[in-house]
Amino acid sequence: MTPHIEANKEDVAKIVIMPGDPVRAKLIADNYLENVKMISNVRGMNAFTGTYKGLKISVFPSGMGIPSMGIYSYELFKEYDVDKIIKVGTCGSYTKDLDLGDLVVVNASYSESTYAKVQDNVDDDLIYASDFINFYLRETAEEMGKHVTIANVHSSDVFYEEDDNIRKNAMDKHVCMACEMESFALFHNAKKFGKKASQILTVTDNLVTGERASASDRTNKVNDMIVIALESALKL
Ligand code: HPA
Repeated sequence: MTPHIEANKEDVAKIVIMPGDPVRAKLIADNYLENVKMISNVRGMNAFTGTYKGLKISVFPSGMGIPSMGIYSYELFKEYDVDKIIKVGTCGSYTKDLDLGDLVVVNASYSESTYAKVQDNVDDDLIYASDFINFYLRETAEEMGKHVTIANVHSSDVFYEEDDNIRKNAMDKHVCMACEMESFALFHNAKKFGKKASQILTVTDNLVTGERASASDRTNKVNDMIVIALESALKL
């Protein structure tokens, strides 16, 4: 047990699929896994372990934002010996070329966050996803006939970015084509503990045009992404 996870170690799989939203974690477990067992529910962060086509997989929500992701990924890698985390989530597009519903596999995550600095005195502001997991995410998407864009993302502490210069800086500095709020902590912790982490995202907002998907679309339009993550997990 950790301050935030009450699971028994043997109940947590080596591979974790990680949505931000605990409701989505339950939906993934209910709709895609067999032999499902709830393994933790501290603060209502319901986590599950089951099997997908015979493979033991856990689904654990990260919550929203770098601090929340920082806590769960740290505890899962360090205390629960998790080897690989695939984050599934949503993102806001920084370009007209990415439409609502498009899929993004993250190459690297840029952030102004102090997470890496404060936790480990690391000054990096760009941290890479696992090439290994990304290879299988791309291959699986291709096999399913789904187009994915490989891109750097801005891992922001702010959902409502009201200063356009923040987006432009992330674009200019590291060609960030989209923003989300968790990958910087996830990739940092994976690197710190010698583990692997990647992220696949569905575009739900366009910060250039101002389009934002409804709350129900945010929940519904993510099925392709979840199947790509689960099918990739079978190959890892
Ligand atoms: N900003 C940050 N994170 C996000 C967004 C956004 O517009 N949409 C989905 N995740």
